[in-house]
Amino acid sequence: MGSMRRSASIISTGAYLPSRVLTNADLEKMVETSNDWIMSRTGIRERRIAAEDEFTSDMGARAAQQALELGGIDPQSIDLIIVATCTGDTVFPSTACYIQNKIGATRAAAYDVQAACSGFLYALVTAEQFIAAGAYETILVIGAEKLSSIVNWKDRNTCVLFGDGAGAVILQHRPGSRGLLAFDLGADGAQTSILSIPAGGCRMPITTEVLDQRLQFLQMGGKEVFKYAVTAMNRSAEECLEKAKIKPEQVRWFIPHQANYRIVDAVAQRMNVGMEHFVMNLDRYGNTSSACMPIALHETAMAGKLDRGDLVLMVSFGGGLTWASTVLEW
Ligand code: ACO
Repeated sequence: MGSMRRSASIISTGAYLPSRVLTNADLEKMVETSNDWIMSRTGIRERRIAAEDEFTSDMGARAAQQALELGGIDPQSIDLIIVATCTGDTVFPSTACYIQNKIGATRAAAYDVQAACSGFLYALVTAEQFIAAGAYETILVIGAEKLSSIVNWKDRNTCVLFGDGAGAVILQHRPGSRGLLAFDLGADGAQTSILSIPAGGCRMPITTEVLDQRLQFLQMGGKEVFKYAVTAMNRSAEECLEKAKIKPEQVRWFIPHQANYRIVDAVAQRMNVGMEHFVMNLDRYGNTSSACMPIALHETAMAGKLDRGDLVLMVSFGGGLTWASTVLEW
């Protein structure tokens, strides 16, 4: 970042996971699958599922409230709320507006960012620009998803992978801290078809035929996404480290998108970094899309594994396809 820019630091975090646990054994009763297959192919043991009347904005608000409490921040001081989600409460208004009301952040501007699983890092980088420019002082960035509402529970290829949850961070300029050091964002719009929800937008409005064919649910070409993910995450992480002039061995924690243990393992091997430096929680939560990063960050901080000055690399990929990386000083 240029020397004229103000740095933006994460000053507090929060997370919320719904209480209902869906185990691999539960899934064995729903589709033709086995705990062995899910564990060996993905590393996922269980995931959380939101209640029927618990929406993305409820989970996002809970995570935000924890971040506000831990940071000692008054909701009235929030200038902007950016919510990363691909499972918003409604197509519009934005989930950020629901959350603004729920947490009483009446002064805040509010909008959503949609980059599927890369959404949180896209939102974080967006927020950083306002701090760096001096336009805003306090920004709440949330990743929240109710993926259980878009999963086809009859499709074993996808339904075992996803879960619900939310995470939040508060961003401010902290004098003396370098904060976000570098980022890399990217997209390949030629790959829109390998990971999408075909219906529900203007391309394919919901009709009874659409519902019969279950086109309102997530569809994925797992094998194609897998290969693409490893290459994209690897390239993006390396580019980001290069921009920050940091070597992998200087990074304390790598926080990767939690889609599949084997994807992360492949990325770690290519980077020549041991898995013990990678924060993993997909065994407990599955893939929570844009909520993965802030949940993992929060859990790492709460476990006392983050000290001021530590370097953290976050790297993600998702539908779009999109990818994103950030390096920050804690
Ligand atoms: N239980 C049992 N068998 C299954 C299951 C299941 N749950 N799911 C698929 N299979 C079967 C398949 O039908 C296939 O059988 P076949 O060979 O008879 O056709 C067999 O298992 C092997 O399937 P593969 O595709 O070879 O398995 P793979 O090793 O690729 O793993 C997986 C599949 C886990 C989906 C993997 O490809 C993956 O993780 N891909 C990336 C997913 C991802 O990261 N998505 C990001 C989404 S993020 C977002 O933006 C929402």
